[in-house]
Amino acid sequence: MANTILGSTFMLLGCLAMVSANNTYSNPILPGFHPDPSCIFVPSWNDTYFCASSSFNAFPGIPIHASRDLQNWKLIGNAISKPDMLPRLATTVKHTSGIWAPTLRYQEDTNRGHQKSGGGKGRFWISTTLVFDDRASDDLSRWDNFVISTDDPFDSDSWTDPVHFQFGGYDTSLFWDDDGQVYVTGSHEYKVWPGIQTATIDLQTGQTGPWENPWNGTGGLAPEGPHIYKKDGYYYLMLAEGGTGLGHMVTMARSRGIHGPYEPAPHNPLLTNANTTALFQTVGHADLLQDTHGNWWAVALSTRSGPDFKNYPMGRETVLTPVTWSKGDWPIFQPVSGVESGWKFSSESTLSEGEGPYIQAADHLHFPPNSALPLHLVHWRLPTNDTYLVSPHGHANSLVLRSSVLNLTSFDGISTRGEGQTFIGRRQTDSLFTYTLDVNPSNLHEEEDEVGVSVFLVETYHFDLGIVLLSQSDGADTSPGIAPFFRFRGMSGVPVTETLFPFPPGVSINTPLSIEVKALNWTHYSFAAGPRDARHLMQTYGFARGDQLSWGFTGTLVGPYATTNGREGSENGAFEAVVGNWTYIPQGQIIN
Ligand SMILES: *[C@@H]1O[C@H](CO)[C@@H](O)[C@H](O)[C@H]1NC(C)=O
Ligand SMILES: *[C@@H]1O[C@H](CO)[C@@H](O)[C@H](O)[C@H]1NC(C)=O
Ligand SMILES: *[C@@H]1O[C@H](CO)[C@@H](O)[C@H](O)[C@H]1NC(C)=O
Ligand SMILES: *[C@@H]1O[C@H](CO)[C@@H](O)[C@H](O)[C@H]1NC(C)=O
Ligand SMILES: *[C@@H]1O[C@H](CO)[C@@H](O)[C@H](O)[C@H]1NC(C)=O
Ligand SMILES: *[C@@H]1O[C@H](CO)[C@@H](O)[C@H](O)[C@H]1NC(C)=O
Ligand SMILES: *[C@@H]1O[C@H](CO)[C@@H](O)[C@H](O)[C@H]1NC(C)=O
Ligand SMILES: *[C@@H]1O[C@H](CO)[C@@H](O)[C@H](O)[C@H]1NC(C)=O
Repeated sequence: MANTILGSTFMLLGCLAMVSANNTYSNPILPGFHPDPSCIFVPSWNDTYFCASSSFNAFPGIPIHASRDLQNWKLIGNAISKPDMLPRLATTVKHTSGIWAPTLRYQEDTNRGHQKSGGGKGRFWISTTLVFDDRASDDLSRWDNFVISTDDPFDSDSWTDPVHFQFGGYDTSLFWDDDGQVYVTGSHEYKVWPGIQTATIDLQTGQTGPWENPWNGTGGLAPEGPHIYKKDGYYYLMLAEGGTGLGHMVTMARSRGIHGPYEPAPHNPLLTNANTTALFQTVGHADLLQDTHGNWWAVALSTRSGPDFKNYPMGRETVLTPVTWSKGDWPIFQPVSGVESGWKFSSESTLSEGEGPYIQAADHLHFPPNSALPLHLVHWRLPTNDTYLVSPHGHANSLVLRSSVLNLTSFDGISTRGEGQTFIGRRQTDSLFTYTLDVNPSNLHEEEDEVGVSVFLVETYHFDLGIVLLSQSDGADTSPGIAPFFRFRGMSGVPVTETLFPFPPGVSINTPLSIEVKALNWTHYSFAAGPRDARHLMQTYGFARGDQLSWGFTGTLVGPYATTNGREGSENGAFEAVVGNWTYIPQGQIIN
């Protein structure tokens, strides 16, 4: 009897040990607009993982997420948070311009005496590119490559000003060799100069040595996203190839010396979901890191589009997959899917430091007096001065938006010429969600004054439900001839819908209103509005389809805008819209 009990206890323990040997987790780890991930593990910074991702025209740019277990990620800062770091982000042209593919690295600095609060003694480095994607491929001014660094990524303002360096390409990545020499590797614009380029770089001055061409990849389209790792006496050069669409893949070559020759892996591509029916497509642009236990992982970008690649409004997201990398061997990547089993995670799940929200958190924002804008809210390009006011005098617990002349489409649909578009949003991070915002429209005065909520991808892809003043001969409650309407408008490359609805009985320009936007299911968003204090009177004024918001390199944002729609003679700040009680409730991830 005793033996039996002992026996089953052992069996039970055996089972537990096997179960606890690995973890099951779900992808994406950073859902929504978080493409081109680059992640590191920093043991000396309290065993913390850090990730950076591309932000394109969004500002603040380059969100930095941190985690202790690779699963629960908190936004701890934005590497580009000061407008004067990068003034030209205000005047980019095209939706695909802006910040591309930061590489995040950490380097211990043994010469530094004091220790930062978090523990680390070293510096965090980012190399990245501000891209002017409207310029010709062979125009060097298309690519503004630069390096920034900090000794405390929890403090957004601590990132240094950029040290610019000249390189006619993008996706630049830093590598420190054992002798302390720093190298930068990047991708030349493939239509002009195929291939990957490497040079030594002085991080203080941006001076680079002669460029070398270690590898061109396996022949796939657009060899890019290079990273170098040194392991077991080899330099491993990992690339993305195939373009960032359905043919995307991860390839690798290695060499005994950094200058080459590089020998391609015998089984390239090492990771791809190309030619599969998986929901998670476009897997590529990977980075490799080791966890607390020394096990390897890859992060990569992926699009939840399925192979028909039509419906993916959240764009390119960050996924995680385990890697087995034995001594002297090539790494073996587990294919990416929604639910994966991989190496055991650390049991430490919370991060006490860091002011931003966890990626899966809801928003309940009230904009209290003397608070800053929450870290996860972004604008499209640099904000104009004094446009977003938190609890200004007379409007406690509100956000006051000073209107822009330009609406979200702007005059040409691709640029603002520095004039700004009044918009503040958060990334859609859940397949299903409900967003609500209280809006006080009583400050609208003139024709085409409009305040509303948008699901915004880029200037030519957005759906908006606004409250707008328009002329109407029998208009009642504003200037003669002007009446308020709900207006639902959508742009999907071209204008696709514009519908006007008179205010329902009992609702006037002085009625506090609420706007509610929902991702109802995998394919549809709904846009509703009604009196704040009588929610049962909410009416749905329009729907948008996810495939109408699927395009390009970025993912959807949701949040309010205020504009005079280009009204002749109007100026920025023509009216102030008071909004508040911003909520975003996650309602599910679709991962299969
Ligand atoms: C390190 O992490 C632990 C566990 O999350 C936390 O309690 C502690 O405050 C952290 N230390 C520092 C210096 O941040
Ligand atoms: C890469 O391609 C260019 C242009 O075809 C060629 O000149 C160069 O030798 C190639 N580099 C390598 C390392 O194969
Ligand atoms: C996918 O299939 C196409 C057509 O057969 C092929 O050309 C391509 O190389 C495949 N891609 C990958 C990454 O296997
Ligand atoms: C744990 O995950 C790793 C990485 O995917 C895999 O190689 C290993 O076989 C798994 N172990 C178990 C016990 O499932
Ligand atoms: C915005 O404010 C900053 C800091 O006060 C100032 O340097 C800049 O010139 C202002 N920009 C405009 C367009 O007024
Ligand atoms: C999603 O919601 C829309 C709007 O209610 C509806 O027309 C569509 O059939 C729904 N799709 C699915 C798959 O349920
Ligand atoms: C944006 O404003 C322009 C005028 O500047 C106007 O023609 C256009 O209809 C507006 N469109 C949208 C969808 O915002
Ligand atoms: C937020 O909601 C409360 C309760 O309905 C309301 O009193 C307050 O005015 C709202 N705030 C804003 C800015 O609309």
